[in-house]
Amino acid sequence: MIECAQLTKRYGRRERRALDSVTFSVRSRGIFVLIGRNGSGKTTMVRILSTELEPTSGSASIDGVDVVTSPTDVRERIAIVPQEAKTVSWMTPMQTASSYLLWRGFSRAEAKARSLASLEKLGMGNSADSLNRTLSGGMKRKVLVATVLASEADVLFLDEPTTGLDPISRREFWSILRETAKERFVFLTTHYLEEAEALADDIGILDRGRLIRIGTLQSLRKSIDYDFSLRIPKDQAVSLPRLRNGELFDGSEDTHILTVEDEAYEISRALAKEGRRFTINPVSLEDIFFYLIVKEGEQTG
Ligand SMILES: Nc1ncnc2c1ncn2[C@@H]1O[C@H](COP(=O)(O)OP(=O)(O)O)[C@@H](O)[C@H]1O
Ligand SMILES: [Mg+2]
Repeated sequence: MIECAQLTKRYGRRERRALDSVTFSVRSRGIFVLIGRNGSGKTTMVRILSTELEPTSGSASIDGVDVVTSPTDVRERIAIVPQEAKTVSWMTPMQTASSYLLWRGFSRAEAKARSLASLEKLGMGNSADSLNRTLSGGMKRKVLVATVLASEADVLFLDEPTTGLDPISRREFWSILRETAKERFVFLTTHYLEEAEALADDIGILDRGRLIRIGTLQSLRKSIDYDFSLRIPKDQAVSLPRLRNGELFDGSEDTHILTVEDEAYEISRALAKEGRRFTINPVSLEDIFFYLIVKEGEQTG
């Protein structure tokens, strides 16, 4: 379990809280994805859990080990790829991974063998001895992930590992992460909602330092009362239906309706009859996120 109780972080006396009394517990199995806009506190959370940063108040533990009072014990169980991590340009992937393992206490032989196995697993066997600076952005990112995978840590923190990757590399990453999560716990942050939807066993939503929801995609769906999302392009929306159950958001490109099944069908039928273009889908994580953030914004200003 990862457990946090009233976890709060304020970087300076005058700063607002980067984390504001965050309390939750989540099983440490599979993939946990923390989502939130830029500045919502994801990195702060990862830095505290990985013992790099102390909270201003509150507590946190990983599998029962307190991150503030027993940081050394925590560090043995975890490995992290920080958001800003870069490979050293004049080192090779092999040197990158094996030096990290030496630092973690493996023998030279073990470090080499584990590093090679990990690089091969990520399809980098052939570039193990190239200089990092000759690799593409996606490959460099893979080197960092191969490095933590080569360790014995059974909890891995990856802070926005796919930001800036092209769609193909991102999907490659997803399958690596799924494989990894069969044996270890992956704590991932992202602002790509389709990534969270594709990978997460559990999802936490951070907004302005507060954890506004946590649970499976299934349970997040249930928490918003609506089942379907309709999008009607602006040029198609003439006479919009009056909603009985749902909510309507007037976007710049389309009119977005979240509603219950019956009403979704009614509206679709009416639109189809008029020959209008529209899309209808089961509520996605993006719909849930959007809805919750707008609602929270209305409530707290
Ligand atoms: N070292 C720091 N000093 C001061 N403020 C910081 C520092 N790091 C982050 N912050 C602030 O804390 C908030 C949360 O940031 P962060 O945890 O990096 O969010 P995210 O990773 O979700 O983008 C932001 O308002 C950010 O500006
Ligand atoms: Mg961040």
